[in-house]
Amino acid sequence: MGRHRSQQQYGEMTTVYLGRKPAIFLNTIQLVKEALVQNASSFSGRPHIPLLIWITDGLGILMATFGHSWRQQRRFALQMLRNFGLGKKSVEDRVTEEGSYLVLEMLKSEGKPFDAQHAIQNAVSNIICSIVFGDRFNYDNKHFAYLLEILKENIFLSGSFVGQVFNLLPIIKHFPGPHQKIYQNAEELKAFIRAAVKTHRETLDPDSPRDFIDAYLLEIEKQKSNEDSTFHEDNMVMSVADLFLAGTDTTATTISWGLIFLTQNPDVQERCHEEIVQVLGYDRLPSMIDRDKLPYTYATVHEIQRSANIVPFGVIHETTQPTKLRGYDIPKGTEILTNLTAILTDKEHWKYPDTFNPENFLDDNGHFFKPESFLPFSLGPRVCLGEILAKTELFLFITSLLQRSRFSWPPGVKWPDMNGIVGIVRSPEPFDIICHSRGSKE
Ligand code: HEM
Repeated sequence: MGRHRSQQQYGEMTTVYLGRKPAIFLNTIQLVKEALVQNASSFSGRPHIPLLIWITDGLGILMATFGHSWRQQRRFALQMLRNFGLGKKSVEDRVTEEGSYLVLEMLKSEGKPFDAQHAIQNAVSNIICSIVFGDRFNYDNKHFAYLLEILKENIFLSGSFVGQVFNLLPIIKHFPGPHQKIYQNAEELKAFIRAAVKTHRETLDPDSPRDFIDAYLLEIEKQKSNEDSTFHEDNMVMSVADLFLAGTDTTATTISWGLIFLTQNPDVQERCHEEIVQVLGYDRLPSMIDRDKLPYTYATVHEIQRSANIVPFGVIHETTQPTKLRGYDIPKGTEILTNLTAILTDKEHWKYPDTFNPENFLDDNGHFFKPESFLPFSLGPRVCLGEILAKTELFLFITSLLQRSRFSWPPGVKWPDMNGIVGIVRSPEPFDIICHSRGSKE
């Protein structure tokens, strides 16, 4: 394998040496399918990343070893996201309701340049809050704003130089330095979740679980005598932390990029608005069934996701055993990266690979269609656990915003660098935008 290092030689596969260790990039949808789906048990591991082990103890879902605990925790979280054991309100209802708060919050700054990212991040994380804790937070809640801030800081620091130094020299965990900030932040987030678990335990009614935490507490009880159970408080805290970590910045950053693309393409914005108002008017809140009647808007939401490309190389995998791909021997422990950037801009599969154009998702009759290379959530057993939730949030939030408002770029202000800031999540540089009201509920 060591001889084949360039993309020209591999075509669909590139091997890059990270230090002495080879990492393989999968550059096409066909290859991702062959590896992550057809050969799933070999390709679904996660590497041992010292920094992450230090702050997660290997628990939770996102970076957990491919095995029994990961499987149980993932299955349970998926059930919760599919509405089991979550009380009366469906996940979609929670998103619809939050979408209307988001519009009101944006309209508070009507006509003036403002930083929309805080409100967007708050709205998105409120969905996880509502599912996990049974409640949302107001956008001016200082304590919650602080927690979102440290969550963002940890995503940034873990992917930065500080994180890389730690992974090369994990012994520094015993010494002071900037890496201690990551640990401290993670402990603060965990303490916040633990406090919520304590109040839930004190007020739990076994006959009517209110949210994820209640349902998890009941699962711990139910599985008490099962020796194989991985349900315990520390795993619950990490699973919840993973939902915040993986489910906040990702969706929020996609919407932030969306506002930039929409202000750069006022014609697209106008067409979406007209379509939405024709179907829903100004006052009826959108729901997921409406997407069939809103093909242009639905295509635009997908094009925002394709162009935003927020996790350019997916989440890193590792082979769990020696295996083969396209005839090449791949040793156990080889790092595997899904090159989502190459797949989302593959010239063979996209009509307009390098420009923002909703036509990428429309057929000749103007009907929505999804090209096979639309792969923002990856594939296989490790496929994004929040895929359905993220799609619901993106469609309902963006449609609600375009129904009631129009966005423009402040005159005379330079466009941001469209490469963005590339960390674990590729996000836009901080920016201000102007929100204009359209129609009215009065
Ligand atoms: C994993 C993308 C939103 C929870 C992933 C992966 C990708 C991804 C590429 C890696 C899959 C792999 O390892 O091959 C996205 C994007 C999102 C989004 C683009 C939004 C636009 C969410 C949301 C949640 C979530 C809202 C939670 C509710 C997770 C979890 C994993 C994951 C827990 C780890 C799955 C595992 O290792 O088994 N996501 N995600 N994501 N995502 Fe998402």
